[in-house]
Amino acid sequence: MTEGVRTSLSNSHVPAAEATPLIVLERLQDGAFAEVEAVLDGDAESLILYRDGDHVRAWLNICPHAGRRLDWAPGQFLKSKDGLLVCAAHGASFELVRGDCVAGPCRGESLRAVEVSVRDGAVWLGM
Ligand code: FES
Repeated sequence: MTEGVRTSLSNSHVPAAEATPLIVLERLQDGAFAEVEAVLDGDAESLILYRDGDHVRAWLNICPHAGRRLDWAPGQFLKSKDGLLVCAAHGASFELVRGDCVAGPCRGESLRAVEVSVRDGAVWLGM
């Protein structure tokens, strides 16, 4: 489903049309990843969620290198000892603030951020 990089998205930030609960916060441990499905602009998308303390960041689960998912199995993401998200396909490494690729075949490119927020003990699409 997520083969190929979407060309309809013109920048690195995906607008979210509606607030939708994605996951209960207690299911996402600090420093861990989760994969969830969400509808963005009418299309079902796989998202990477990453919890950093009280904050959760989200990106499309599409690697900028070759458009593959980053998880090696659904919801199973690699994290290096340096705290980078590593794409399971060819090893691109992404820092976890902006989603920038800092090593590997797509160095200098970025994951596409998705706007999420934390409230009422859950992670929601949008603000
Ligand atoms: S598809 Fe992610 S590194 Fe190649």
